Amino acid sequence: MVIAIDGPAGAGKSTVARAVATALGYTYLDTGAMYRCVALASLTSPAPVAELAEQLQIALAERVVLDGTDVTDAIRAPEVSEQASKVAADPAVRRALVRQQQRLLRDGDWVAEGRDVGTVVAPDAALKIFLTADPAERARRRAAQLGADPETVLAEQAVRDERDSARADSPLRPAADAVVLDTTGLALEQVVAQISAQARRVAGSAAGG
Ligand code: DC
Repeated sequence: MVIAIDGPAGAGKSTVARAVATALGYTYLDTGAMYRCVALASLTSPAPVAELAEQLQIALAERVVLDGTDVTDAIRAPEVSEQASKVAADPAVRRALVRQQQRLLRDGDWVAEGRDVGTVVAPDAALKIFLTADPAERARRRAAQLGADPETVLAEQAVRDERDSARADSPLRPAADAVVLDTTGLALEQVVAQISAQARRVAGSAAGG
């Protein structure tokens, strides 16, 4: 079974998706990390980004390993975030990564996090959650994580939000059948408990219970 958790940066997706995966015993898939790996590689490689997306060996587990190198921390650098939002607008990059994501999700139980999981990667996902939060709160959370200035983060976030939402290919938007959950002012435990309860209901009815 697949649980899709989509939404903009800073809505709490990663923390929530990891915690839901742990609560349910499912495997967590961070699709954004794949775009970040392509972005990181493109900052030093002259190869076309679509080629990088096709050929890079990306291993996602506790650590993110790109062609044998641990890039868990490197892919979180601000310049990689900026570049990731650019490469993610390239349809050939998206095609290559979506194919890999769909291959992973074919078997087993997953909590997959991204922007287009419910709309494109796994349109048949058993449960689709679209997490949102007030832009200022999202920027505050990201700034705290990164140790950066909230105003700067807010300005950069607005540019990336606009690019992710306005792109022609798979723009950031909730699937028609997604549950939209605004996490502004909610504690992590409340969000995780809500989603886990919904997931258990869905899993129960899928099993005929
Ligand atoms: O979730 P994140 O910040 O790690 O994502 C990095 C970038 O990749 C961000 O600009 C959005 C993009 N992305 C995407 O377009 N589709 C996904 N499924 C995941 C991320």
